[in-house]
Amino acid sequence: MSEFVDYAGEELTPAIALMLVGALLEGVSLMLLIPIAGLLVHGSSQGGGLSYLVNFIPLENRLGQMAVLLGLFAAMVAVRACVLTLRDRRLALLQLGFIDQQRSALLRELTAAPWSFVASLRHARVTSAVGNEVHMMAATAQLLLQSIVTISMLVAQWLLVAFIAPWLSLMVAALGIIGSICIVPALRKASHRGFQQVERQTAVMNAAGQLLAGLKLAKAQNAEAAFLDDFSRHTDALTGNQIESLRRQSRLRVSNASVAAVVGAVMLLAGMALKMPPPILLTAIVILARMSGPIMTLQQNAYHIAAMLPSHASMSNLRKSLRQSQADDERASDASTAICTIGTQDVHYRHADGGGVTGVNLNLRRGEVVGITGPSGSGKTTFIDLLTGLLQPEGGQVLVNGQPVDASQFRQFRDRIAYIPQDSYLLNDTIRHNLAWGRADVSEAAMWRALEASGASQFVGQSQNGLDTPVAERGSRLSGGERQRIAIARALLRCPDVIILDEATNAIDVVSERLIIADLVAMPSKPMIVLVTHRPETLRLCERLITFEAGQIAPEIHLRKIGGKATLAPDRIGVPPFELNR
Ligand SMILES: Nc1ncnc2c1ncn2[C@@H]1O[C@H](COP(=O)(O)OP(=O)(O)OP(=O)(O)O)[C@@H](O)[C@H]1O
Ligand SMILES: [Mg+2]
Repeated sequence: MSEFVDYAGEELTPAIALMLVGALLEGVSLMLLIPIAGLLVHGSSQGGGLSYLVNFIPLENRLGQMAVLLGLFAAMVAVRACVLTLRDRRLALLQLGFIDQQRSALLRELTAAPWSFVASLRHARVTSAVGNEVHMMAATAQLLLQSIVTISMLVAQWLLVAFIAPWLSLMVAALGIIGSICIVPALRKASHRGFQQVERQTAVMNAAGQLLAGLKLAKAQNAEAAFLDDFSRHTDALTGNQIESLRRQSRLRVSNASVAAVVGAVMLLAGMALKMPPPILLTAIVILARMSGPIMTLQQNAYHIAAMLPSHASMSNLRKSLRQSQADDERASDASTAICTIGTQDVHYRHADGGGVTGVNLNLRRGEVVGITGPSGSGKTTFIDLLTGLLQPEGGQVLVNGQPVDASQFRQFRDRIAYIPQDSYLLNDTIRHNLAWGRADVSEAAMWRALEASGASQFVGQSQNGLDTPVAERGSRLSGGERQRIAIARALLRCPDVIILDEATNAIDVVSERLIIADLVAMPSKPMIVLVTHRPETLRLCERLITFEAGQIAPEIHLRKIGGKATLAPDRIGVPPFELNR
């Protein structure tokens, strides 16, 4: 609620004013019932409320007076309906804006969080927060506001009863307190089910994500049933929870309706026993009958709020943990600084399960072509993530241009690094949009040059829509090699000082890969090129070879430079030297 109040700010004042005006109009229209009932029962106005109004009506006959009073009543009801419409529209707009603001804030915090933290988050956790929890949060705030409105209406109505029938009002207040105490256990259960709901919702999201990601493989192996079973298990659990919640709500409604009927009867009898004048008693009963609806709404709201607060708590916890994880200093400079060297001094990093790198000392220079190899899981990608500042070393330091840099200082170098990871990521958009991603100033000519260098110009040129060809989700309309070529072209458009390809060419044939790397080496800016690969053919293009073994660097091999041609010791890779120049 506090987040909603912060968001709404001054906008909340007119909404609250409309709520109060609505409550006031409700009270006034109900007060009009007293003279109406008086005219109906006695043929003249009697009792309290607005009975004196009849004296101002310049008509003598009863029918005329009644027509005026009913006209006033109808006008009041119409004005109140307008006010309530305005109130609801304002609240709905506030709610939509609040959802948008919360979602954007979550995504902003997500992008500002360190990679090590983001990598540990389940995708479903985030999609559930963005998709469901944010809606629940807004709905909770909305229900709270509505409840405030309902309470203000009820207070207005109760004051009226207190004014015309004090004893009845005391009985109503006592019953209200008893009812509130009785509902507490139901609210506790609703809250418990709310927590289960959050967990089960996330589990369904997770299962759906897994199903989509693995469906191709599952189809190829006739294993769809296993996926469906898993998905059904989660949806059944979620639906079961929702059905149980509905069952309890309807039980609550039935008991509420029964209690309201009994209370009404008791009030009527009590009024007769207290010998209350019929117009007053009638009006009080009408008001009490009107109060029973909002009281039930209030109870339902309390139930829904109890059930939805866990979603609110889950979203708040996620945002809090994202904020706490933020290592990047927002005030850090965004100015881009050229990179000449990147090095590590005794760098150490361990993932949660124990894998990582230890005691890594290296210095890589601009203009070098460095090959990084080693068995799977030996720490190559972890090292690259440290080198690019995605991970912060737990020991030792990363140096750029000879200076130690922390997370916040890394920002100024990011524009100068092109990192192409193992799984080349493409947006579900056109090739043009993918190439220009994050850069507004890329010309079409530059795009074609980059596509030429990455060996993609031919297939892009041949496709019907050229640069405007859509690549579909995660580039699924392209072959693996084509995806990698687009990813490399996009990286080249950044004009980087450092190009890191982490097995980013493994889907490209060896001959094309050689041509692409030769193009990178020939770039006039002479970038540092770091190639992480298992392929001997690729390693033969490098001047230095770094081999990781169980998180450590094996003795480094410096390749001999013979007449400007990079070559690799044949005994190490088992293949003959290869000329770098085309
Ligand atoms: N996010 C992570 N959480 C937990 N452990 C991780 C994570 N990333 C990597 N590891 C572990 O750290 C070790 C090194 O992983 P890394 O990805 O650096 O290996 P790699 O040399 O790049 O392997 P490959 O050649 O298969 O890409 C592995 O044991 C891996 O299981
Ligand atoms: Mg790797």
